[in-house]
Amino acid sequence: EAETRLVGAAAPGPRRDVTLPGRRPRVGHRHLISSVLEEIETIFHGLGFSVAEGPDVESDWHAFTALNMPPGHAARATTDTFYVAPDVCMRPQTSSVQIRVMGAQKPPVRIICPGRVYRNEAVDATHHFEFHQVEGLYVDEDVSLADLKGILDRFLKEFFGPDTVIRFAPSYYPFVEPGASVDIRCFFCGGKGCAVCGPLSGGWLEVLGAGMVHPNVFKAVGYDPERWMGYAFGVGVERTLPLHSPRISKIEIARKGRARRAKLYYLRDLSGKAARLTEENKPEAAASNTKPASAPQGAPAVQAPK
Ligand code: PHE
Repeated sequence: EAETRLVGAAAPGPRRDVTLPGRRPRVGHRHLISSVLEEIETIFHGLGFSVAEGPDVESDWHAFTALNMPPGHAARATTDTFYVAPDVCMRPQTSSVQIRVMGAQKPPVRIICPGRVYRNEAVDATHHFEFHQVEGLYVDEDVSLADLKGILDRFLKEFFGPDTVIRFAPSYYPFVEPGASVDIRCFFCGGKGCAVCGPLSGGWLEVLGAGMVHPNVFKAVGYDPERWMGYAFGVGVERTLPLHSPRISKIEIARKGRARRAKLYYLRDLSGKAARLTEENKPEAAASNTKPASAPQGAPAVQAPK
């Protein structure tokens, strides 16, 4: 009788069965870009690299001059930089962190620098005004292009899977010589050309810029270019997402933080790398940004945003 009185007093109105299981609260998760950055960091940790960081707002010296782009250099125009004051800009690439690290320590250097970069670009499937890069820099006495190729091959295969096909093509960046762009064969179309890699790409996706550090960069930071050699590379993080998580075929999708979509990506992400290579994951659905042909188990089909 005492018990009835107690329950009655505590819970007026309809009786509730407190022994029923409760509703599970929705639990959030890390943003896909954070988890991809962490994965890249983990791979490079395993290869002996440590993580360095630099400011998003950068001086002209770090962003351009020390990177072998003196005032008036044509390449300054190619980065579409946002200036916040005459000699201060939002960094258009993480390469400025190379200058900060080398300015602060003696060789050898073996670092990666993940970070946000900013460019005055119109938003489309492969461009955004704000995106992420992971810069890499290795300086020592005896470093060759073969070392660069080896490390990138290892990284790309660990990140995208062992079947990844990689291509190095000559490219120009003022702060390296020689320079290369590094492409991987598109997973979606197998190299035929599709909406993800672009119909004119020949089925290759550019995911990296790289090269051997230019002697003028060493001179700018006070390293003797006769003694030290090095390689540098920069990974475009958002560019890797469609390959990493097949439902993200546009950069802007990755930036929209709506819970349901993010959860879908997350499920797909967790379903493992091998899944990316299965038929289910290669359909035109991901390539054409329309409704997926089939949803991952348990998840609702979601219309990709226009
Ligand atoms: N900073 C270059 C870019 O934004 C990439 C790069 C980094 C190229 C390092 C060569 C060496 O495109």
